[in-house]
Formats: sequence, C-alpha cells, structure tokens
Amino acid sequence: MVQLGVNIDHVATVRQARRADEPDPVWAAVQAELGGADGITFHLREDRRHINDRDAFLLKQTVTVKLNMEMSIASSIVRIARRLQPDQCTLVPERREELTTEGGLNVVKFVRRIRTVVRAFHREGIVVSAFIEPTPDQIRASADCGFDAVELWTGGYAHARSESAIKRELDRLQIGIEQGHEYKMEVHAGHGLTYRNVHRVAGLRGFGEFNIGHSIISRAVFVGLSEAVREMKNLLHRHSPRE
Ligand code: PXP
Repeated sequence: MVQLGVNIDHVATVRQARRADEPDPVWAAVQAELGGADGITFHLREDRRHINDRDAFLLKQTVTVKLNMEMSIASSIVRIARRLQPDQCTLVPERREELTTEGGLNVVKFVRRIRTVVRAFHREGIVVSAFIEPTPDQIRASADCGFDAVELWTGGYAHARSESAIKRELDRLQIGIEQGHEYKMEVHAGHGLTYRNVHRVAGLRGFGEFNIGHSIISRAVFVGLSEAVREMKNLLHRHSPRE
C-alpha cells in the first residue's frame, strides 16, 4: 500500500504571515492523521521562515505516524535533527531566495559531505532519504552515499505541458524507480503533485511514498484538512497499480 506523507509547512507559513500563534502546524498534523496520513513531513529551514524549533519538537512529541524532517545539510540543522530524532530525514537543497525547494539535491557534487551526514544519522538509527532529480548519476551517487531511500523530484512532470513532455517525464521517473530498487533503496515521490495530476505518477509501479503539501493545504482551506487528506489518499489508492 502506498504511503502518503502530508507536508504541513504551509500552515506555518500562514501563521508567520502575521507572526501570530495561529494556525498551529501541530494541530494540522493531528487533523492530517485523522484523515489517514501515513506520515507528517515538515521542513525546518535555516531561515525558519515557516516551521520553527518549537514546532519541530512538539511534532516529535505528538505525531504518532512517521515523522519525516526535510532539511539541508547545514551543520546547525544536522545537529538539531540528531537531537530531535525524527523517523526519517530527507536531505534537500536550500536557497534563501527560493519560494519552495527547487529541484533536487546535487548528491554527485557534495558526495563526501553528504556521506558523512548519512553515516551520522545511521548511527542514530534514523532512516535517510535524498531528494534528487530522477537522473542515473544522482541515483547512483545516492546509493554510494548509503541512503536508504531516494525521493524523486516530480516537478519536471508537474510542470510539463505537452503530452510528449509528460510522457518523457513519466518514463524518467519509471526508469529512476527501477534503478533505485536495483540499488536496494526505497523510492519516494514529491513536489508539485496535485489532485489533478497525481493519478499518472500514482499509476507508476514502485513508488512507496508520496510527499504532498501545497495542493492538500490549498484544498483544506475549503474542505478541512482531514477531508483533503482523505481525498488525496483515495486518489493514490485508486490509481496505484494492483499488487
Ligand atoms: N518533497 C520535498 C522534498 C519538498 O521539498 C516538498 C516541498 O516542500 C514537497 C515534497 C512537497 O511539495 P508540494 O508542496 O509541491 O506538494
């Protein structure tokens, strides 16, 4: 059964728009769990523009499903993650000027530093995933670093407009899934997935986990978060290939 990780960062973004104490991303995690989320995902950014340290530590105390922390490889954040002990750390690239994470981590370029971080997390018993573009060299480098999983960036698919471009991106993802499995890694998917476009990615064989934020939180404004999560889970299950 495919797993849905719900990214709750946007709830904290609304809170920070007023520097207020609502809406609380910790409440959002509860609602997401009630809707059937298999995991709660958050990104503790170096600039703390949405999720802050208080949120991270309260989430650790209250979330009962898989807690997945997205993070850069900056030493200060790695230190916090080692104290926090989430179930999974997903290493992502981070630039201050970006609106959201753009593209994947360049594991090929930073292989030595990343390998050290992966080893540190393994010593703590934390599962480590790399958010990367679905290219053979990034997948190979992730395996070399010892990652347990790769999360393939689905932004290329989400942004593709023509049918031929969409098919090309789906092929890239399918090849990436197979390559990841050959290296004995789990393969996850994330970025830009919506209620309108998720069906074709969900239809690929081999994704174990989907991490989705923007579209679920957007729908939650109108239908509530539990209901929005329930609808996304139904879509994923309806379109997943039969075992
Ligand atoms: N996965 C990762 C690694 C991400 O950085 C993000 C964005 O924070 C997501 C998934 C969710 O992307 P979206 O908000 O577009 O669903």
